[in-house]
Amino acid sequence: MSGKGLEPWQVKESDFPGRGNTQDRLRFLLRYAILAPSGHNSQPWVFRIQDDAIELAADVRRDLPVVDPNRRELVISCGAALGFLRIAAHRFGYHAKVVPFPDSPTLDLPRQTPGSRGWGSGAALARVSFRQGVLPSSDDQALFKATTLRRTNRMPYDERLLPPSLLQGLAQAASAEGAWLQFVPKGERRDRIAEMVEQGSRALAGDPKFRRELAAWIRSNWSGKRDGMPGYAFGAGMPRSFAMPFLIRTFDWGKTQGTAAMDLALAAPELAVLGTPSDTPQDWLKTGQALSQVLLRARAADVSAHFLNQPVQVPDLRARLPDLLGRLSAGCPQLVFRMGFAREVRPTPRRRLDEVLAKE
Ligand SMILES: Cc1cc2nc3c(=O)[nH]c(=O)nc-3n(C[C@H](O)[C@H](O)[C@H](O)COP(=O)(O)O)c2cc1C
Repeated sequence: MSGKGLEPWQVKESDFPGRGNTQDRLRFLLRYAILAPSGHNSQPWVFRIQDDAIELAADVRRDLPVVDPNRRELVISCGAALGFLRIAAHRFGYHAKVVPFPDSPTLDLPRQTPGSRGWGSGAALARVSFRQGVLPSSDDQALFKATTLRRTNRMPYDERLLPPSLLQGLAQAASAEGAWLQFVPKGERRDRIAEMVEQGSRALAGDPKFRRELAAWIRSNWSGKRDGMPGYAFGAGMPRSFAMPFLIRTFDWGKTQGTAAMDLALAAPELAVLGTPSDTPQDWLKTGQALSQVLLRARAADVSAHFLNQPVQVPDLRARLPDLLGRLSAGCPQLVFRMGFAREVRPTPRRRLDEVLAKE
C-alpha cells in the first residue's frame, strides 16, 4: 500500500514489541486505534500514555460545528478509536478496563485552543488500564485483522443478502456494548427512511455553511494531507477530485445527491440503524465502541458499510425516526448505514501516531 498519508495502514502484527516496555507496547496498540473511522475523517482524538494506562480526549480543534453542533458524532468517532484500541489490546493478550468520563460525567469541551502540548480541554473521555492474561480466540483474531482492512465503501453493493447468522451476531455485539442495532428490511419502513435520507441531503446541502464545512475536509487525490476525505473515496478521478471542494462549496447539490443517496438506501441488501437507550455523551461513547464491533465483525465476513446519516443529522428527521422504527421508547438513533458485499476500495489517510499523542 503506498500513497501520501497511508503509512499508518502498514502497521504489522509481527512488529508488536513483545520485549519492549509497557510504554512501547501501549504505543503500538494505539497504532490500531488511529485507523478508526471518524466524521469527515477529522480524527478528533488525542491520547496520552500514563504508566500502564491510556487516556483519550477529544481534539476540539477538529470539531464539525455545522453538521455536529452538540459534538455527538465527535464523541462517537472517539468511541470508535476506543473500540479499535480495545480490540487490539485483546489480540495481544490484554484485559482493557475502560473508565468512561473519569474526570467529569458531563461533556465540557470548550472550543478553546488546546495547550501547546495538545491535550484537548484537559478532561478525558475515557481512561483505559491494561492487565495481561487474555488468550485471544480465533474470532478475536479475525476481528483484529479487520482493523487494517475496513473502509467506508460508498460504491454500489451486490444484491446478495447478508447471512442471518451474521445479522444476529452484529446485533448481539452492539447490545453487548450497551447499544442497539436494528435492521430495516425492504418495505414500507425502508421506503420512509430512504425518503428521510433524501430530505436530509436536501436540507443539509441547502445550507451554505454545511457546504463550506464539508468542502474544507474534501481533498484532491494528490493531497499530502493526513486527514479529510480524498475524492477517490467518492469514486472521483484525479481531475474531478481537484474540482470537488469548489463544486461542493458553490452549488446546492442536495437534490441530485439526495436522490442518489435515497436510491442507495432503497437498493441496499441491509440498512441498519445503530442507537442507544438515551442520548448522553456516555451513550455516544458507547455508540462508537458498538460501531467498531459492528463494522469490524462485518468486515471480517467481507461485508462493507457506508453511512447514510442524514436522518440523524437533521434534528426534525431524527425526532421522527424512533416512531418509524417502531421504537416508541428507549430509542435514540445515532447512526444509519447500509451494508453489503462490494468490490474493495482504497484506504483514506491517517495522521501518524506522534501527531495524536499528547506530548508530556
Ligand atoms: C460518527 C461518524 C459519522 C460519519 N458520517 C458519515 C456520513 O454521513 N457520510 C459518509 O459518507 N461517511 C460518514 N462517515 C464515514 C467517514 O467519512 C469515514 O470514516 C472517514 O472518511 C474515514 O474513512 P474510512 O472509514 O474509509 O477509514 C462517518 C463516520 C463516523 C465515525
